[in-house]
Order: sequence, then structure tokens, then C-alpha cells
Amino acid sequence: MLTQLTAIQADITRLAVDAIVNAANSSLLGGGGVDGAIHRAAGAELVHECRLLSGCKTGDAKLTKGYRLPAKYVIHTVGPVWQGGAHGEHELLASCYRRCIEIAAAKGIASIAFPSISTGIFGYPIGLAAETAVGTVRAALEEFPEVQQVLFCCFSAMDLAVYEKILAENK
Ligand code: AR6
Repeated sequence: MLTQLTAIQADITRLAVDAIVNAANSSLLGGGGVDGAIHRAAGAELVHECRLLSGCKTGDAKLTKGYRLPAKYVIHTVGPVWQGGAHGEHELLASCYRRCIEIAAAKGIASIAFPSISTGIFGYPIGLAAETAVGTVRAALEEFPEVQQVLFCCFSAMDLAVYEKILAENK
């Protein structure tokens, strides 16, 4: 079956998918943006489990349960801070998306929602980030077709328009 790739505008903490991805920092102990929203919605048990993980490197990802979230799991990934583009940002961001799909496939996760990693507090330009997100996920899904539904969960209408354009061009 061909995997469905869709962009939507939503609060990721509300999505009843198998896993949502968190745009975390390397401590995995919470922060602002989507990270703060996910921790608030999941409840304090989430940070307790995160404490046992000893952090996460930029470009890598780690799985926890979803606790009070409608999603069963959270895959925490650490995107790069944008520093102009010549500091391996593209490779690190691609690695985040790839690691999340790998972890999802290994856990039998069939539906997953991604926020637009690194494009808030970490400053990554949305157009470049969305190209990397869509391109990397498409390539990873050829290897892991067991992941059947991928949602790019945009917070703003502007981000949604960017993702929709890229998805339409890359069909
Ligand atoms: N649902 C979906 N997307 C959201 C939500 C939400 N509830 N809230 C924000 N976004 P950011 P980063 C969007 O800043 O750039 C944290 O402090 C937001 O509009 O959350 O990877 C971490 O601990 C943007 O499009 O993550 C790190 O220190 C996208 O999510 C740092 O921020 C990502 O923005 C990570 O920065």
C-alpha cells in the first residue's frame, strides 16, 4: 500500500495518531514551543520517562509513551539550530526525519504526525525545512512501507501553504 503523505493545520497535541513527533532539545526535559505544549498535554509522567533517557543528540530521536495524549507514543527528536545553512543543518534535519521513521517502523507504528521541526525557536527557514522534511520522509518510506500514514502538522496557515505546494510538486 502506498503511504499517505498529507499536510494539515492543527495542534499536534490533539491528534489521535499512533505517534506524534516532538521538536525537543538535547536535554529532553521540556522547553517552549511544541515541546512545551506536548509536555503540558501529556502530563508529568512524560518528563519522568524522559529523565531516564539521558538526553538525545541533534539529528537523533528517542521514543516514549504518550501518557495523557491521544497519541500512543511520542518520538522526541532534536533538530539543528539554524546558523546560516553551512553548518550541516540540512543533514541534521534530514537525520531527524529519517530516525523518526526508522523508530516508528521498528515499533509497528502505522500513523505518525510531524511538527515543522527546527522552524520555530531554532530559526530554520520554513521553505528549506519543508523541502527537507518532504524529501526525506518520501525516501525513508520506500524503505519502511509499514508506516502507512504521515501527517505534516502545521501550526500556521502560512506553513500549511508551504507544505502543500511542496507536496504537490513532488508527487
Ligand atoms: N502543534 C503543532 N505545531 C506547533 C505547536 C503545536 N501545539 N506549537 C508550536 N508549533 P518550535 P524548534 C510549531 O519552536 O524550532 C523548544 O523550546 C511552531 O509554530 O516548537 O524545533 C525545545 O525545547 C513551529 O512551526 O521548535 C527546543 O529548545 C514548529 O512547531 C526548541 O524549542 C517548531 O517550533 C526547538 O525549536
